[in-house]
Parts: sequence; structure tokens; C-alpha cells
Amino acid sequence: MKRILLAGATGYLGKYIAEELVEQNYSTKILVRNLEKFKEFEIEVDDIIRAEVTNKSTLNNCCKNIDVVISTIGITKQKDGLTYMDVDYQANMNLLSEAKKSSVKKIIYVSVLNGNKMKDLKICEAKEKFVDVLKNSGLDYCIIRPNGFFSDMTEFFKMAKKGKVYLFGSGNQKANPIHGEDLAKVCVSAIESNEKEIEVGGPEVLTQNEIAKIAFDVVGKETKIVHIPDFFRRLTLKLGKLFMSSKIFGPMEFFLNVMAIDMIASKYGNHHLNEFFLEKKDSIYSTK
Ligand SMILES: NC(=O)c1ccc[n+]([C@@H]2O[C@H](COP(=O)([O-])OP(=O)(O)OC[C@H]3O[C@@H](n4cnc5c(N)ncnc54)[C@H](OP(=O)(O)O)[C@@H]3O)[C@@H](O)[C@H]2O)c1
Repeated sequence: MKRILLAGATGYLGKYIAEELVEQNYSTKILVRNLEKFKEFEIEVDDIIRAEVTNKSTLNNCCKNIDVVISTIGITKQKDGLTYMDVDYQANMNLLSEAKKSSVKKIIYVSVLNGNKMKDLKICEAKEKFVDVLKNSGLDYCIIRPNGFFSDMTEFFKMAKKGKVYLFGSGNQKANPIHGEDLAKVCVSAIESNEKEIEVGGPEVLTQNEIAKIAFDVVGKETKIVHIPDFFRRLTLKLGKLFMSSKIFGPMEFFLNVMAIDMIASKYGNHHLNEFFLEKKDSIYSTK
């Protein structure tokens, strides 16, 4: 059985990948900076390394005896004061350098859907810069390009709970978001697959209006969607670029751009958004 190093196991997707690797009996080593956070998941992996991916010296020999590295390392909501270039690019470069040193055979890297077509956005610029280096590294590789995660659809749920969902433009743009558990299966199957690039989304293609309606149905409220003229989205992007720090503007830039286009990838998985929202609702009530 191949020996896998997973970097990013404390994240939304990484947790599901760790579970899937263990489920499929892979020899699983994880690399984390926050051990306590991973322990809360109660996943029995074979080995744990505590290291800072952004600090190359802490990674020394992390890939020893490893066949395949999977990395989901990237900034989503972290507030470490680092840029996408520091983390999505450079931290993954640090891992790649260790992987080469230890003769790792393959790297599986999670970028974003259409990342290669949106390199003008800071997050995609950094991710795809790493992708380009990886492709020319001489190592075998697989780039996963997923659609938005269910975890990000939580914003719709939160707004619906408050009674109104705010959308830019018509809300008719479509996407097929994917659950972390489904995506983890794709990432783990890439260990044995010969595919070099996989674009993937969830089983349902939904408009933003439909996502909002699902959220309202789950919280049991009348559907009330406020459509903000798209002009304000474009204005926010222009002003944000001029006046906001890149750390705050980066996630906003990505979000405001992808909300304005259709984001559709090959359909995969069994998880549906209404079940995810139902779980959210139940977990909120159970903690009360
Ligand atoms: N969310 C989406 O909708 C979406 C869609 C497509 C692609 N992606 C990409 O998929 C990947 C996984 O996403 P996710 O939602 O699972 O993200 P996540 O929950 O934020 O997990 C990201 C992982 O990267 C680690 N990380 C981030 N900054 C770090 C730093 N400065 N030093 C060390 N580790 C750091 C996190 O460690 P800590 O837990 O210690 O912070 C975590 O383990 C990301 O690269 C993301 O860009 C996300």
C-alpha cells in the first residue's frame, strides 16, 4: 500500500481526505501546524508531523519514505497576515522541494475550478503559478480543480436564517458546488489514476436563486431575495483594488468574480445541498 503525506488535514477538505485515506487503508501521515485542531477530528492516522509549511526549515525530511503527497494547503479564511503567494504558492513550493529531495513519486494538488483561466485574480495567480512549476517538476502529478465547496454555501444559509438573501445581479448564474466528502473521494482516487487534471463539481447544477430557495426552505422561511444591481459589485471590485489591503481584498476579489459567471464542472458525488443545510440547522439547534 502506498504511503501518503497529507498537508492541510486540519481544513474542511483535508479532514475528509484524511478520513478517506484511513478508510481505504493507505499508510497515512499528516502534516499540521495545529495538532489540537486535528485531534478534535478523532481520525486515527499512522503518523503526524507538526511543522509550518511556510517555514522551509521545519519541513526537513517530512517526505521521507513517502510515495504520494496530497496538498490542500491554501488561504481561505485564515488571518495570519500572509499572502496567497506566501501560502498557496510558496508553502506548496516548500513541500515540492522536500518531495523531490525524498524521491516522492506523485503530488496531488487542489487548485480551483477555472483557476488557469482566472490568473488575473490574486488567489488563482498564486495557485496556478505553483501548478505550472509542478507540471514541469519531473514528478508525476494530478491537479484537482473543484467547484465551490458546500462549506462556502453556508453564507446563503446564514442570510436565509436572518430572513433575506442578498445577491448581485439576477442570481441566475449557475454552479454545482461539491461536498468535501465527495471531493475527498476524487482526491484519493487520483493516487492511482493517470489523469493529470480533474475539474469536478457536485451532482446538482443550481442557480444562486435556487441555492437561496433551498436555504429558505430548510430554515422554514419565506423566500426573500434582494437583487443588488451588478453595478455595485463592479464598483466594489474597483474600489477594493484601490483602497483595500491585498489580504482583505483577495478573498473578496475571488468571490465577487466567480459570483458573476457560471461555474460548472463534471458532476460527481451523492451529497445534496439541502441535506447539508439540514445538518447545519440541526447542529445549530443541538448546540443551543
Ligand atoms: N472553499 C472552497 O470553496 C474552495 C473551492 C475550490 C478550491 N478550494 C481550495 O481547496 C483547498 C482546501 O480548501 P478548504 O476549504 O479545505 O480550506 P481550509 O479549510 O481553510 O483548509 C486549508 C488548509 O491549509 C492550511 N493553511 C492555510 N494557511 C496556512 C498557513 N499560513 N500555514 C500553514 N497552514 C496553512 C490550513 O491550516 P489551519 O487549519 O491550521 O489554518 C488548512 O489545513 C484550498 O487551497 C482552497 O483554496 C477551496
